[in-house]
Amino acid sequence: MCGIVGYIGQQDAYPIVIKGLKRLEYRGYDSAGVAINSGNNVNVYKRKGKVSDLEQFTLNKDISGCIGMGHTRWATHGIPNDVNAHPHISMNGKFVIIHNGIIENYAYLKKKMIARHYEFKSETDTEVLANLIEYIYMFGNVSAEVAVRLALTKVIGAYGLVVMCIDEPDKLIAARNSSPLVIGLGQKEYFIASDATPFVEYTDQVVYLDNQNVAIISRDGIQIKTIKNDIVNPDIKKIDIDINEIEKGGFNDYMLKEIYEQPKSITDTMRGRVFQNDNYISLGGLLDVMPRLMNARRVIIVGCGTSWHAGLVGEYLFEEYARVPVEVEYASEFRYRNPIINSEDVVIAISQSGETADTLAAIQLAKKCGACVIGICNVVGSTLSRETDAGVYTHAGPEIGVASTKAFTTQVTVLAMMALMIGKNKFNIKQEQYHELLSELISIPTKIEHTLQSASKIEEVARLYKDSSNFLYLGRGCYYPVALEGALKLKEISYIHAEGYPAAEMKHGPIALIDDKMPVVVIATKDKGYEKIVNNIQEVKARKGIVIAVVSEGDQTIASMADHVLEVPVFNTAIGAILTIIPLQLLSYYIAIFRGCNVDQPRNLAKSVTVE
Ligand code: M6R
Repeated sequence: MCGIVGYIGQQDAYPIVIKGLKRLEYRGYDSAGVAINSGNNVNVYKRKGKVSDLEQFTLNKDISGCIGMGHTRWATHGIPNDVNAHPHISMNGKFVIIHNGIIENYAYLKKKMIARHYEFKSETDTEVLANLIEYIYMFGNVSAEVAVRLALTKVIGAYGLVVMCIDEPDKLIAARNSSPLVIGLGQKEYFIASDATPFVEYTDQVVYLDNQNVAIISRDGIQIKTIKNDIVNPDIKKIDIDINEIEKGGFNDYMLKEIYEQPKSITDTMRGRVFQNDNYISLGGLLDVMPRLMNARRVIIVGCGTSWHAGLVGEYLFEEYARVPVEVEYASEFRYRNPIINSEDVVIAISQSGETADTLAAIQLAKKCGACVIGICNVVGSTLSRETDAGVYTHAGPEIGVASTKAFTTQVTVLAMMALMIGKNKFNIKQEQYHELLSELISIPTKIEHTLQSASKIEEVARLYKDSSNFLYLGRGCYYPVALEGALKLKEISYIHAEGYPAAEMKHGPIALIDDKMPVVVIATKDKGYEKIVNNIQEVKARKGIVIAVVSEGDQTIASMADHVLEVPVFNTAIGAILTIIPLQLLSYYIAIFRGCNVDQPRNLAKSVTVE
């Protein structure tokens, strides 16, 4: 949550910072602000709203200078308005600061600062930090760097921050604890950002800042220290992000682009890992932990939101093929319980961003209990990828739309590969069946391409139900998590209330909601529970509900009873479950578009939830 960009070098900072903020807008878009050092002065401009509103506001203002920083906010402390927008300036004007995260003891610190006659303009925790740094600087008579480090020793909470000191204008000071920051290294120029996308066109050399580390950055170089003043040697990494991957590429929205990218992203997820001719799957990132994975007493999958839904599909796949007991937990619940975990357990943490605070905390807990921790993650170099014992990247490419689409299908692809790999090694799957499963897996991208061709039909259905106030999504077995995911997609981008239920549970309560105004989306492909789901459709129709059914191509039985059918190609194994989410992604997308919603930046949300 919140995006941070900083620049120090020879170029004009403002355009670099603004372009970077636009790329980070997926992290929050409640307000935006910049601070640019013009040489004589630090000019701070901030505005409620999007980065484009800030741009309008800065027209005809002095935006000159080669050192600058900017922030796009997802509000935690204080409503989204101009005053609470970052950057924040300390009371005596010595420090300017942008911050991502939450200072948990801010109320205590604020009280102390008020006792020292500090006054506050905003309701934010960040302003408290700005004033604390300034107080230590002025009354401790220390350098800006020392003041920042000492202040951070007093802070409990999460921060990714960048600080400018008016008296030391030729440097930026950045610090991180639990909120990501990456430094891009150029020729006599440096970039700081919440992820590497703001500076991919300038450099591919980066340093990921570790927790409780501070970077002192000038045009002549960077120095990294812990907040306790121990020197840290920068670990320089090379990143590989293609600039085209972070542009819209002719689509109106990132979400639609990402829906259409799924055949490619799933192909990339399987590339070099699935060998159909030789009948095997190899996941290089898991080699070191294979003995623990093969002998796991239990697998616990943790994640949030869509990643949790992928985990639920994974539960079916693992139980079906790997034959190992699986529990799937919301990371946010898991971390606050006292779960019984031991060294024979394997914990799989799933996260697109690799920065979700609850998932990272769940990893720490699992590690403390001695479990083997495996990550499934999309963002290369993210905290999750660095803090797990082993892992598999999804290789979906950057996902910028706040609603996860390709992240889900690639996460399920990874879980399917893992389940099949373990299942084969345990001799649970016969050679012939294995071959069939691999063929199914490999055919998924082509089948998704085929499904995407019915987009215009789905658009027509969406037009009919765009004004509905509620939707119910039903599925059985591995389609139950698909129902949950379909409902989540609709909720988050169209603001229509939607619930996902196991189809058989409908009669235990939700059936009371059904009337002739209630669209019920049923995942009813020809699979194990087919006859049962046909019965569920009859039950909905008997109560005059509107049935939109996702069916296997050519299914006349359901076509004759449902109001609308959305077809997907025929598949024979649980792996095909991935296909059924595609029509649901498109349905929610078109409904949201018809309702005039901003699908890429839905209200109140942010892509990467780095606060608890
Ligand atoms: O980056 P993560 O996968 O850890 O994110 C988890 C959730 O915040 C995320 O899936 C969220 O639910 C999406 N907006 C769903 O579309």
